[in-house]
Amino acid sequence: IATEIDYVAEIARLKKEKNAVILAHYYQTSDIQDVADYIGDSLGLSQQAAKTEADVIVFAGVRFMAETAKILSPKKKVILPDINAGCSLEESAPADKFLAFKKQHPEAVVISYVNCSAELKTLTDIVCTSTNAIKIVESVPKDKQIIFAPDKNLGDYLNRKTGRDMILWDGACMVHEAFSADMIAALKAKHPDATIIAHPESEKPVLDNAEYIGSTTGLLKYTMNSPSKEFIVATESGILHQMKKASPDKIFHIAPTVKNGHACIACSDCPHMKLNTMEKLYRCLLEESPEINLSDDILTKAKAPIDKMLEISA
Ligand code: 13P
Ligand code: SF4
Repeated sequence: IATEIDYVAEIARLKKEKNAVILAHYYQTSDIQDVADYIGDSLGLSQQAAKTEADVIVFAGVRFMAETAKILSPKKKVILPDINAGCSLEESAPADKFLAFKKQHPEAVVISYVNCSAELKTLTDIVCTSTNAIKIVESVPKDKQIIFAPDKNLGDYLNRKTGRDMILWDGACMVHEAFSADMIAALKAKHPDATIIAHPESEKPVLDNAEYIGSTTGLLKYTMNSPSKEFIVATESGILHQMKKASPDKIFHIAPTVKNGHACIACSDCPHMKLNTMEKLYRCLLEESPEINLSDDILTKAKAPIDKMLEISA
């Protein structure tokens, strides 16, 4: 007879035994967030990865995040519950194609959103996250041309906010691209007191109607500090867990999404983030696999633009 595994207890036991730390992104499922030592946005998670004293980092997120942790803590073992947890932004920017593009603009400074491969980071001058993107763009002298990759929606938002004219790579987040401005407006008409908030990976029509735009941590803090009692949230659905926990008296609606012209209930769940499960998290701690390994060359070359970001955003 197969015995049921108590994943919560087993994960706690293995974590202690192996001196491991679990870092989880807000887009993970609620059960994973509840066993994490640290829950955060991309910037917060990379700062934690850089300073942790643990021997093993279990990254409950997607591959580019675990790679960033490895680049920042190369001597530590970094494991990811599902090695296939990719990202549509990362996929949109293969390093060879990007290199050819970069060669067309040899004078430009390259700023890459952290949601990209380690290879792409080796072709980058400064990395940014959604938290520090404005500051990073503004750190580049105004007379310098900038290439921004891979998120065209975030890049377009940054151009509007900073008055720059960055050259944008044509990538997008499959989740944030699915939010429908028309359906958000219809939901708002039904809930007139709800405040619309959005992640800057969303398209312009969605951002134009948002009262607040920010990273996942920014959005969470906004819901905690705002006097508003009701919110329409345009970002991945996992964030609602911490929002509800922090403000149990408030009401949260995930912004509606469309696919091929039809309403799509599941499109606010990132299929990459949601590949991770408690069972896979347990197995990966038990077997210390799948492990993130990068060549020394990539580790060194990808670290410089991440260090630059951490320095500017300190
Ligand atoms: P932040 O973690 O910077 O809010 O970005 C969200 C995201 O898309 C991660 O995949
Ligand atoms: Fe990538 Fe979007 Fe998923 Fe984040 S939510 S991992 S940006 S596809």
